[in-house]
Amino acid sequence: MIIVREVAQLRQAIAERRQLGTNRAKAEYGSAAIQQHTVGFVPTMGYLHEGHASLMQKARELSDTVVLSIFVNPIQFGPNEDLDSYPRDEARDLEVARREGVDIVFLPTVAEMYPQPTRTKIHVSALTERLCGASRPGHFDGVTTVVAKLFNMVNPDLAFFGMKDAQQVAVLQQMVTDLNMNVTIVPCPIVREADGLALSSRNVYLSAEQREQALVLSQSLRKVREVSEDAVQNSFTIGQIHQMVESTITSSPLADIDYIEILTFPGLEPILAEQRLSDVQEDIIVALAVKFGNTRLIDNIRLQKAEVLSHV
Ligand code: PAF
Repeated sequence: MIIVREVAQLRQAIAERRQLGTNRAKAEYGSAAIQQHTVGFVPTMGYLHEGHASLMQKARELSDTVVLSIFVNPIQFGPNEDLDSYPRDEARDLEVARREGVDIVFLPTVAEMYPQPTRTKIHVSALTERLCGASRPGHFDGVTTVVAKLFNMVNPDLAFFGMKDAQQVAVLQQMVTDLNMNVTIVPCPIVREADGLALSSRNVYLSAEQREQALVLSQSLRKVREVSEDAVQNSFTIGQIHQMVESTITSSPLADIDYIEILTFPGLEPILAEQRLSDVQEDIIVALAVKFGNTRLIDNIRLQKAEVLSHV
């Protein structure tokens, strides 16, 4: 596994891997049948857990070369957010990367990523105005800007992102389409603990009591799944589902709700509260952000239209 900290080294290491693949293909198949060498990219902020591992596994499965970046990106944190205390453990992260068969790890410093004050920002409109975009102003501009920079450095064919940050996936997909970036975004399923808690680097901040009560998030989403699969209950309206989720979450005295929203996905358009679940003609996302003490957790469930039983 190659570990690099500078952009020039990263480009060099990737160029060598691509060249190697091309040479091998030439030798095996002749110059007329050069196969593409696929570079898969997993951008992260480190403190890697099984959710990240699942992204690396998918990347390993689909790519010839797997590149992992670990960079806690300051420009996606607000002034009162947890940039300074964001958990970091480089040695353990490198072990996880090695175990998952990563080829190249990029570990830049802030100065390497932002050698001068950034005057260029990427802003995706509309999709960033709701959910986490509303509670964390400027957050998604920081995400799209750093991901665009990383895409320009790595030049990946495929890039892997977890659906726990479903809005991030929708926003990045929009950016890639709008700017004709030559990369395919591969969304990967949410990974949960055995008791349902969605994996997050921020889970380490939770006290034992907060962690116990945080299970209301996945419990409320499980109820949504059950409703969608039940031929009688899926005639519930969006308003009723919202209420059901809210009452499950407020059963935890420590839960402080930031948002509960039911929107179309990936368009993130609001759905009328009176509309029946089974009548919505698009995929739906039920997205939550809830604080336990200072720790803000997000979770969501996506209901694909085909999965919602038709209303009878
Ligand atoms: O999802 C994350 O960890 C970050 O938002 C990302 C995509 C690595 C950009 O900093």
